[in-house]
Amino acid sequence: MKRLVLGFETSCDETAVAVVRGDEILSNVLSSQVDLHSRFGGVVPEVAARAHTEAIKSMTHRALADAGIHPADLDGIAATQGPGLVGALLVGFSFAKATAWARSIPFIGIDHMEGHLFAPRLETPEFRPPAVVLLVSGGHSQLVHMIDWGEYVVLGDTIDDAAGEAFDKLARLLGFGFPGGPAIDLESTGGDPAAIAFPRALPDRRHEFSFSGLKTSVATYLAKAAAAHDLPSKADVAASIQEAIVDVLVEKTLNAVEDTGVNTIGGGGGVMANRRLRARLEEAAAERGLQLFIPRPELCTDNGAMVAGAGAYWLEQGTVTDWTANVDPGMRLD
Ligand code: KG4
Ligand code: ZN
Repeated sequence: MKRLVLGFETSCDETAVAVVRGDEILSNVLSSQVDLHSRFGGVVPEVAARAHTEAIKSMTHRALADAGIHPADLDGIAATQGPGLVGALLVGFSFAKATAWARSIPFIGIDHMEGHLFAPRLETPEFRPPAVVLLVSGGHSQLVHMIDWGEYVVLGDTIDDAAGEAFDKLARLLGFGFPGGPAIDLESTGGDPAAIAFPRALPDRRHEFSFSGLKTSVATYLAKAAAAHDLPSKADVAASIQEAIVDVLVEKTLNAVEDTGVNTIGGGGGVMANRRLRARLEEAAAERGLQLFIPRPELCTDNGAMVAGAGAYWLEQGTVTDWTANVDPGMRLD
């Protein structure tokens, strides 16, 4: 039976709350803290936790009102348990657990990355394992072999910066603002992705990423170009940086598909909102006859629906979380 679940995501800088019935999204609201953090050029953990505390009650009321649901109708409440910022996680997790306790309904703690794995299914119910899923966010760049729901093998991760982190740091270097991913995506419009050949790291590793070297090579390139009074256009720089990141993401996703023998690719995490990455994956999947499931951008970036959706699934399976459970900032998918 489809379960009616309220879900909370507060692992980083969005206070996100949603209501789902099974994999149908009834409401999905979000209070972003981007303006609060942008003057610091990144997320400040203490500021994030306080902002979650201030926003969580009104966001909950909005999610319930948008869904037309009374709290008494809920079958369960889910919240992100980890990974993420400990103070930020604690706000959503404690609020959700206490509310579930008070209403005597089950509570389900969800791995944030598993939430991202559920997002393609909320968009398209046909999405199901076995699949290879590229999870690219501000904190992670993982290729996951989804054998079944709940059965995940992380084939590869980044050995240094995550893809989103690379976008954010490069955008800061270029003075494009925060968060950097959307800024580079936008600035790349009309630029030539082949204008500058930035390096593609770790060509010999089939499923692993490295993005920290790119920052150094972009900085060196820009310093030399400035000294030679030969600066390329902003659009060309943005498009070339983006291409260097997208190239390796696409190539290693295809390696993972080949190595696991699946014919389905999924995508999730904030970087999956990138227009170029989406287009390149669509092109690659079409060429090879692979099925591709990338949710709309607002389901790629952090949202409450992915947590509520994963919670509804586990509740339907009869798997709930003990009242003594706590947040786990270092939680790992496998
Ligand atoms: O999944 P997410 O919303 O939060 C985390 O769990 O980290 O991902 C946030 C990351 C940020 O680094 C942001 O710059 C990046 O996703 N991002 C993008 C785009 N939109 C968000 N990166 C590239 N292109 C985009 N359009
Ligand atoms: Zn995320």
